Amino acid sequence: MELEKKHSISLQGEKQVTIHAPGTVANMVCGFDVLGMCLKEPFDIMQVRLLDEKKITIISKDGYELPTDPAQNTAGAPLIEMLNEIEGSIGFEVTIQKNIKPGSGLGSSAASAAGAVVGANHLLGNIFSNEDLVRFAMFGEKVASGVKHADNIAPCIYGGVTLIRSIFPLDIITIPAPDFFVTVVHPQIEVRTSDARQILRKEVQLKAAIKQWGNIAGLVAGLLKNDLALVGRSLEDVIIEPVRSILIPGFDEVKTKCKEAGALGGGISGSGPSIFMLSTTETIAKDVEAVMKEVFDTIGINYHTYVTTINKTGAQIIT
Ligand code: HSE
Repeated sequence: MELEKKHSISLQGEKQVTIHAPGTVANMVCGFDVLGMCLKEPFDIMQVRLLDEKKITIISKDGYELPTDPAQNTAGAPLIEMLNEIEGSIGFEVTIQKNIKPGSGLGSSAASAAGAVVGANHLLGNIFSNEDLVRFAMFGEKVASGVKHADNIAPCIYGGVTLIRSIFPLDIITIPAPDFFVTVVHPQIEVRTSDARQILRKEVQLKAAIKQWGNIAGLVAGLLKNDLALVGRSLEDVIIEPVRSILIPGFDEVKTKCKEAGALGGGISGSGPSIFMLSTTETIAKDVEAVMKEVFDTIGINYHTYVTTINKTGAQIIT
């Protein structure tokens, strides 16, 4: 394997930055591990501070018991990889105010990983490309779920909708997306991505695969052509959703009723349990939210909802 070139740095600028690290919807229903979309809300707030010794410190400012050992932390592991490619005695202190609940299906681990590398890169004078940042941040996903995947990381760093055609080697394509409204319901149950991956069948019937790649191509074409009907009918997953949806009480009802309320379509956000729906207007998106609330009120499961839009910028430095 080719050795990465070491970057030598000279630091004169800021010593600390604050970052908004947004949530993301991986898979976008049919594109398991290859499609993802960045959301305006929810988002984590992170600070990255430059240290003058080679170490990484993680400070968690939320009630979640996430590991603070950098090698086991989704923000720490990517920074270890980044430091390996830098010459000099520097390090980072990362403070995380997590608003995206771990195990929500809204890219919580990716937000920490992406926010950390975007913040650190800014302090280093942006010496790394976005593709490098995705490469580092995927180490955070490995820590979180045991597997490297970039369908939360890439949209969190690039913003908008991204297609990850390949992760080895990385091949990321940004896709211009219409100004959709996104409604999300997060039932307060935890689904660990590693568990939600474990239950998937390892083999796929050819008939199902044909349907799935037809839908992925249809979704990408629909986004590019701004063909909303095509987007709507391509939001169909015949491989993953039938298996994973059993982990989400009320899933089928939410989906059917949201479409009746006018949503273009939607499905499980990432590995769940959150469910997302795309709509063309805010009014429809709010009607969809009301339907989601009604279903979970009836079942008796607590939830959070968001009516938001696609975040076109990704993780951002705010100060
Ligand atoms: N593509 C990943 C999965 C995303 O569905 O397992 C996890 O957020």
